[in-house]
Amino acid sequence: MTNLDLLKKRYEAYLKSRLNLDGGAGQAVSRLIINGGKRLRSRLLFLSAQACGTAPKDSLLALAAAVEFIHGASLLHDDVLDGAKLRRGADTAHKAFGTREAILGGDFLLTEALSLLLKGGGPSAVASAARAAVRMVRGEALELDYSSRNLVPSKAAVIKIAGDKTASLFCASAELGAIASKAGSRTRSALAGFGELFGLAFQYTDDILDIEGSEKSLGKGVGLDFREGIATLPLVLALEGLKASEKTLIMAAFGKPDCAKFPEAIRIIRRTGCPLARRAALLLLQRAEDCLAALDKSAARDNLQALVISLRNRKN
Ligand code: IPE
Ligand code: IPE
Ligand code: MG
Ligand code: MG
Repeated sequence: MTNLDLLKKRYEAYLKSRLNLDGGAGQAVSRLIINGGKRLRSRLLFLSAQACGTAPKDSLLALAAAVEFIHGASLLHDDVLDGAKLRRGADTAHKAFGTREAILGGDFLLTEALSLLLKGGGPSAVASAARAAVRMVRGEALELDYSSRNLVPSKAAVIKIAGDKTASLFCASAELGAIASKAGSRTRSALAGFGELFGLAFQYTDDILDIEGSEKSLGKGVGLDFREGIATLPLVLALEGLKASEKTLIMAAFGKPDCAKFPEAIRIIRRTGCPLARRAALLLLQRAEDCLAALDKSAARDNLQALVISLRNRKN
């Protein structure tokens, strides 16, 4: 077992030890944090710290828990915003425990994250995570502004939404690893840049899978974004190149959960928008790899590279 594997075991226990909230809100939070998730953002934080020469150690646990908690809060609140029924193959927290409980659970995770950030990395760690958290809210707010009116944003707006709601926390996670290691500004920006580009590619891949995947492999419904009137990159890129009749068909089904044209609309986006969105994700991943070139060679740098490879191959 490597030092990082050992630290990850202690990390799971540490996460559990921070969850002390009463009632349904507490149950919502415990189930979300304890039972799963890929732990991608904390992995990025551990690897970034290692890439800066910090051996895996307990003083990283508070920061890693903070990013996982901010992520958890965003999921609890996002599922309320999206009216989502399934997450990780089970009922969403607001369905299982109630909307009020899910909202409060998210608030608990956010406020707990604040003290963990201060404890684990001081004011510069709080500042980095705060930049991400405010971008996450801005991303969700801009997305809601369009979806609540059943409107499709421009390509630039849809990219901004993905960057703000998702890439921001990946950026901060990588940056926090550098902050914990007191890395120089060049290394810190290379890692933050890596996190941002990787995170954006991660969201594009999630959006592609929403159209291409199956409910079984995703642990959530298919075409949900489109059904709920949430425009993502595959849709926007599809609309750019389609003939008028196909555009009309897609727009007739967009945001209308029971529309009979839904399967045909999804088929068109799958054929046209998804390959273009995949190409955009691959280009971002190439640029993310370029950021790694600024770091010294290390096993951690190879593991960051491995994250890129696994995202290229992600199927669920
Ligand atoms: C889901 O993130 C939300 C998005 C940014 C698309 P993850 O896929 O990292 O969530 P879990 O924690 O692994 O379930
Ligand atoms: C992901 O939102 C970003 C946040 C949770 C802030 P999505 O709505 O795109 O993600 P999923 O598909 O529900 O995981
Ligand atoms: Mg969602
Ligand atoms: Mg959402």
